[in-house]
Amino acid sequence: MAGFITRSGALGPFVSATTHTVPVASRLVAPSVVVPKEKPIVFVPGRNSSIDGSGAAMVTSGIGISARSHQRRFAHTDVKVPDFGGYKKEDTYRTQEGAREGSKLFSYMMVGGALGGPMVYGGKSMVTKFVASMAAAADVRALAKIEVKLDEIPEGKNMIFSWRGKPLFVRNRTQEEIDTVREVGMAELRDPAKDEDRVQQDNWLILIGICTHLGCVPIANSGDFGGYYCPCHGSHYDASGRIRKGPAPENLEIPEYKIEDDLLIVG
Ligand code: FES
Repeated sequence: MAGFITRSGALGPFVSATTHTVPVASRLVAPSVVVPKEKPIVFVPGRNSSIDGSGAAMVTSGIGISARSHQRRFAHTDVKVPDFGGYKKEDTYRTQEGAREGSKLFSYMMVGGALGGPMVYGGKSMVTKFVASMAAAADVRALAKIEVKLDEIPEGKNMIFSWRGKPLFVRNRTQEEIDTVREVGMAELRDPAKDEDRVQQDNWLILIGICTHLGCVPIANSGDFGGYYCPCHGSHYDASGRIRKGPAPENLEIPEYKIEDDLLIVG
């Protein structure tokens, strides 16, 4: 047996044989006892080791260490972890919580500082493009204003133009019409307004030709008051565009306009 173990090269490093030799040839040699050699324990940080509660390194797995007999070995206890406290700020070094809060604040400031500028610029660019897309097209803007040559409208006539999709009334009133509408007392009017306040020049009456009842286009130089008549439901307006009879609640609307010499500019 001993010879077999000795000859076996494979088990040589791990076992050793002990024999008791008896000088009497007639007696049997005592059986050999195979005692396993102590297996080498290799400490590999992070793979077969851990740190126990006291902070000491401990071998937890490897040859000769089973899960049941959790053999505890101390390793490298003389290696000290470097302290970088000297590089930290005093207030954040004191507590872990303080360190965390300090780190968060610093991170937020860095992110805000680095990304704030581009984000603001991008936001401004986006808003500018959006607002520009909402603006009216050039052809629409061209129709926003209308110019009318007043010297082409004879006295006593009302001409109709299209402005922003609405009928625009331009009336060259006679002196008789002006006198008539200015004699009317405010008490007689449903929507009281002085004729002087509704015109810039006495003879020129500028109105949006939409009935204030339900939006029909009134007929000029007709009705009971010689101004405008809406045939839809029978509203009568005078030569100042004020409602005098019928269901319409208000006077005809006056647009923004100005008169320069003989040129009327509306809009
Ligand atoms: Fe003009 Fe009704 S819409 S009276």
